[in-house]
Amino acid sequence: MTAPITIPGEDQIRGVMLASVSTDSIEDSLDVLYTQGSVIIGLVMIFLTIVAVFAADRVVRPLHQIAATIENVSAGYSDDVLHVDTFTETKSISEAINKMMGRLKLLDDSREEFVSNVSHELKTPMTSMKVLADSLLEQENLPVEMYQEFMGDIAKEIDRENKIITDLLSLVKMDKKGQTLNIESININELLEQILKRLKPIAEKKNVEIVMESFRPVTAEIDETKLSLAISNLVENAVKYNHDNGWVHVSLNADHKFFYVKVEDSGIGIPKEDQAHVFERFFRVDKSHSREIGGTGLGLAIARNAVIAHRGAIKVYSEEGEGTTFTVRIPLIYTAS
Ligand SMILES: Nc1ncnc2c1ncn2[C@@H]1O[C@H](COP(=O)(O)OP(=O)(O)OP(=O)(O)O)[C@@H](O)[C@H]1O
Ligand SMILES: [Mg+2]
Repeated sequence: MTAPITIPGEDQIRGVMLASVSTDSIEDSLDVLYTQGSVIIGLVMIFLTIVAVFAADRVVRPLHQIAATIENVSAGYSDDVLHVDTFTETKSISEAINKMMGRLKLLDDSREEFVSNVSHELKTPMTSMKVLADSLLEQENLPVEMYQEFMGDIAKEIDRENKIITDLLSLVKMDKKGQTLNIESININELLEQILKRLKPIAEKKNVEIVMESFRPVTAEIDETKLSLAISNLVENAVKYNHDNGWVHVSLNADHKFFYVKVEDSGIGIPKEDQAHVFERFFRVDKSHSREIGGTGLGLAIARNAVIAHRGAIKVYSEEGEGTTFTVRIPLIYTAS
């Protein structure tokens, strides 16, 4: 390296300074830096790869756990509960899956209960018929009256079996999603009169008085068969679970949007704790007492399904020992979903 030598204040250059330094040591340092640098970079990369593998494993493991539980559910072990709380996201996924599995389990339980109830209900009349038929077969020279009496009992059991099957079929039909209602414009006052006329003979047997009160003429868009079934079940119950010489009041009213049918009775009433369950299939309040009266516990389930199919609502109000009121609210104009 060279540099001119001047005296301050003068323009002339007095001499030249020459300096020379060897760059070997710098090159050596650079070599060292290059080799050590690549080792450090290599180590850092290996370290980062290891960290990445562990991190990925930590992220993927909860997902594997979730997948394994879902596999278990598909394989039929549905009691597993997921607790994958590693990350907020996996926590919310596992909570959602638990909720879904809870719902599936509920559906599965109710399906099992339904099948076992159906089998039981269908078996009971069969068992009675078998006992009756066997006792006729085992004894010889029975008087004709005995035959007639036993055959009469067998015929009653056949009727019972028939009713259960018909009820079950109407329930299953109404359960189907997208069921088609046969909607027509119907005079509801006339419809109620017809239903009550059909049930009067049963009421007369218990000397129960049925009174109908219409506040206004009502015409609505309904499926006549299905809604008649619902109202008939309500009035039939009001007579069945009534005292001798009791009364049943049926009233019809409407506003600009809905019509309202109220079925009120002076009967035995429904205990508070059972009121929420009366619409469940096969639910009967007092099994022994209800068995005497006869029935399967499907009537109100059918009634509710029919009302819901019309986008309506059904409610029960009751005081034990005093009586029961069922109210039904149905839109005047049917709107398909
Ligand atoms: N008006 C009522 N008063 C008192 N209890 C009632 C009344 N209506 C229904 N219940 C109770 O609710 C239960 C369920 O009624 P639901 O009509 O579904 O079945 P059910 O009458 O026993 O049999 P069915 O299938 O023949 O109608 C009845 O067993 C009865 O205990
Ligand atoms: Mg009933």
